[in-house]
Amino acid sequence: MTRSVYAGLTAAALFCAAVPLSAQNSADALAIGRQMLAEDNPGELWAQRGERLFAEKRGPKGASLERCDLGLGPGKVAGAFAQLPRYFADTDKVQDLESRLMTCMVELQGFKREDIIRNRFGTPDRDSDMEALVSYVGSKSNRMQMDMPLAHAKEREFYKSGEYLFFRRSGPLDFSCATCHTEDGKRVRLQDLPNMMDPKQMQMVVSTGWPAYRGTQASVRTMQHRLYDCNWQMRQADLGFASDTSVALTSYLNGRAKGGVIQLPGVRR
Ligand code: HEC
Repeated sequence: MTRSVYAGLTAAALFCAAVPLSAQNSADALAIGRQMLAEDNPGELWAQRGERLFAEKRGPKGASLERCDLGLGPGKVAGAFAQLPRYFADTDKVQDLESRLMTCMVELQGFKREDIIRNRFGTPDRDSDMEALVSYVGSKSNRMQMDMPLAHAKEREFYKSGEYLFFRRSGPLDFSCATCHTEDGKRVRLQDLPNMMDPKQMQMVVSTGWPAYRGTQASVRTMQHRLYDCNWQMRQADLGFASDTSVALTSYLNGRAKGGVIQLPGVRR
């Protein structure tokens, strides 16, 4: 099926889901909409494209990503997402999936960092390779459990920094992530906000969440995009793509989602 057909179906499913039916509360209706999408998830198309891109010889160096080390050894994709972010000795950094893929695209394929960052989010007339690659690699951990390592001192440092950032109130609205994400039953417009203090909800957010096919955007978006969006909602300075701040937040979220069974790409509003 083509993307436009998918987008149409998606819009229809979301529209049905968003109409408050008198017999149901809107949370039930939204759950039904999500279920409909999950059964025929357009995100699969991104994962398939990502698989092709991964194996294709590309970039100024004409190389594939088959020697890319995502933490489990060169070319080992299965299970890699379950253990990210993690520390990488070659870059001496803790990296999430997006930042690690960027390292591989620069080092192995010779792409320019600025170009990858410019094309990090797809638009209606230009697909993002990053969104496709993340969908592919994420889905290769399906049915495995989240198990982010905390053995290295830097991994623990990033987790702790993420925790600090999650609770720190700042910016013109004096919001923290916790302002919106630590209570049950909280909503912004029709959206249920996950309570990230609840381990089960935290697991769902990470292990069946991002990368997610977003019906409202008719595209897959990655966790980097989700964090960028929430950061913007807080009226903070833009969150740099693959920045240490963004990776620290993901370390905190993924670390606390330990044990969550992965099923990606997710499906979101
Ligand atoms: C002003 C309220 C607000 C603040 C503050 C906020 N978010 Fe969000 N967050 C939202 C909304 C709204 C959504 C989308 C919910 C939806 O569409 O299902 C969301 C969704 C998310 C999701 C995806 C949840 C899921 O189930 O897919 C993550 C992860 C997230 N936020 C992380 C953060 C982090 C980390 C911070 C702090 C940097 C933060 N948020 C700050 C409102 C907020």
